[in-house]
Amino acid sequence: MARTVTLIPGDGIGPEVVAAARDVVEASGAEVQWEVIEAGAAVAERDGDAIPPRLIESIRRHGVALKGPVATPIGGGFASVNVALRRQLELYACLRPARSLPGVPSRYEDVDLIIVRENTEGLYSGLEHEVTAGVVESLKIVTEAASRRISRFAFEYAQEHGRRKITAVHKANIMKMSDGLFLKIAREVAAAYPEIEYEECIIDACCMHLVQNPAQFDMLLMGNLYGDIISDLVAGLVGGLGVTASANLGADCAVFEACHGSAPDIAGQGIANPTAIIFAAAWMLEYIGQPEAGGRIRAAIDSVLKVGECVTGDLGGQATTQEMTQAVIAALPGA
Ligand code: NAI
Repeated sequence: MARTVTLIPGDGIGPEVVAAARDVVEASGAEVQWEVIEAGAAVAERDGDAIPPRLIESIRRHGVALKGPVATPIGGGFASVNVALRRQLELYACLRPARSLPGVPSRYEDVDLIIVRENTEGLYSGLEHEVTAGVVESLKIVTEAASRRISRFAFEYAQEHGRRKITAVHKANIMKMSDGLFLKIAREVAAAYPEIEYEECIIDACCMHLVQNPAQFDMLLMGNLYGDIISDLVAGLVGGLGVTASANLGADCAVFEACHGSAPDIAGQGIANPTAIIFAAAWMLEYIGQPEAGGRIRAAIDSVLKVGECVTGDLGGQATTQEMTQAVIAALPGA
């Protein structure tokens, strides 16, 4: 029986790349049907609510969503749809793999990293206030419970997927209490997994090491804001935001998406790279128990990237989103 997946087109390039992913999934032989629900800035403007209540109900009911990027106003305006989704659905773990892709021009050829980002607290608590005129305060919340939950998630993932090392990334030399607590819990959890190497790295030094020699790392475990920034840095090591996917995972639900945003600078031009969201769709199929279809899609993208003749401008090619999508469909094993 076909599995129903909530599909969120999103803003900017979202509808273009989500349509591409949908076409590829349908051509892959996956047994999926979609419940399409709009959310984001365009919906907020039209209906006054960036997250319609039926979106949360739909994801809870189906347990899985494929999501296009949604725009968040800078400064004022409505709160981030992404942060709200992660909080309301308790999607506490954000997982972002970055691996060198054959045919994709980048500085390194041996990157194989997994970023594990705590997704529910830290500086994303949204607790900000004006103390007095000209002075504002933004609260960074770190709890033992959330730190333990994400640390366990990282070590369990490492164990299940044969990863060798976890590096906890922090700034506990300055934020002695908040990052100090995160590290204390990470160390406690690490002690229960002696077969997985554990080390720690201060965030600023970690950035330098990532740029100089990313192969020294395997999995990186960190809080919310560090994870957001480091994921984009690491995306830059493997060909950019157009090729990196992301999963937001909780105990009951999962939301798969691209790492990139709505890219307003290229929206509507038909030139966005659909690779990241297609990878996210393949991962989603694996998550819902359709690994054959997911594997076929991964093989098709890999072959299109390797040949390099039908790729979008960000990868040095001249193909449109649709042309690249059709190339992926044509490269599906058995197509
Ligand atoms: P962005 O990721 O949208 O764009 C950064 C740069 O990468 C731009 O030059 C863009 O053209 C390029 N780019 C991104 N995706 C691409 C693709 N698939 N193909 C080719 N080029 C691509 O980041 P930005 O500009 O900081 O954010 C724009 C909006 O997106 C903001 O409102 C932000 O809040 C939102 N955003 C949403 C996310 C989500 O829904 N998960 C994640 C990140 C940002």
